[in-house]
Amino acid sequence: MNTKLLDKVNVLKKQRNAVILAHNYQAGEIQDIADFTGDSLGLSVEASKTDAEVIVFCGVRFMAETAAVLSPGKTVLLPDKDAGCPLADMITAEQLRELKSKHPDAIVVCYVNSTAEVKAESDYCCTSSNAVELVKSLPEERRITFVPDQHLGRHVEEQTGRDLVLWPGYCLTHVVITEDDIRSAKQNYPDAVVMAHPECTEPVKALADEILSTGQMLKFAARDTARRFIVATEIGIIHALNKANHHAEYIAASERAVCPNMKLVTLEKVLWALEEMKYTVSVPEAVSVKAKKALDRMVEVLPQ
Ligand code: 13P
Repeated sequence: MNTKLLDKVNVLKKQRNAVILAHNYQAGEIQDIADFTGDSLGLSVEASKTDAEVIVFCGVRFMAETAAVLSPGKTVLLPDKDAGCPLADMITAEQLRELKSKHPDAIVVCYVNSTAEVKAESDYCCTSSNAVELVKSLPEERRITFVPDQHLGRHVEEQTGRDLVLWPGYCLTHVVITEDDIRSAKQNYPDAVVMAHPECTEPVKALADEILSTGQMLKFAARDTARRFIVATEIGIIHALNKANHHAEYIAASERAVCPNMKLVTLEKVLWALEEMKYTVSVPEAVSVKAKKALDRMVEVLPQ
């Protein structure tokens, strides 16, 4: 760790009254300097309750947008302006409006990995840790449209027995993890418990012992007695698992599961973000007010 750089970050953080939030997929050195690390739900909650004036969001754009929506009046900075989420960009507000016109009576649930415009067109937002519970809480007689991740959608279908209107979006990083990866990891480590993220493909999830969000993986590993875990998600989580739960060994299901956008954030860029107050992420008020309703409804249905 570059201590000079870290000192500078800490001084500026105080001066700016800033907090650093980092997703579990961030590089280890970013996780280590963060005030709070977590999954999408944990980070949303943290962003909504922080007293800091500035939120440096070490993650991807939709996460920073969510923080801006939940904390109006605060300055939200994304250290790399190009840190996007291809999955979130797989459905536009226009496309969702079109889908809604085909299923006008359906309740629209959007995964948090979506743009603020898409959230604004949705009734409820959800994350990978609460999608199943959220859908379970909706009236059984109502049809549900679920966007944009088809794999999380199928997981919800399986867990709830409901038939959803799905959008064919997917996460480029999770779909590189193959069935063969899991089979060969299981062969090498027959005693290991397999944890997979719901964004993985169905054949991968079928081989998993547990299907969990990144935050849930951390909690599960803490209470499970297994000595080894095969982890099918973005490899940044391995750092978080090693740091939080020393009792076991964590094996990445695929070393190729690296999100190039998450890895755009570096320590230098965090420092520059604080020095130059860039890159500000804001959401137009009309969009923000509607998107916030979908996010607030998620929290209302599933109190923390
Ligand atoms: P988690 O909410 O499980 O951390 O997932 C976030 C994400 O973006 C997965 O691609």
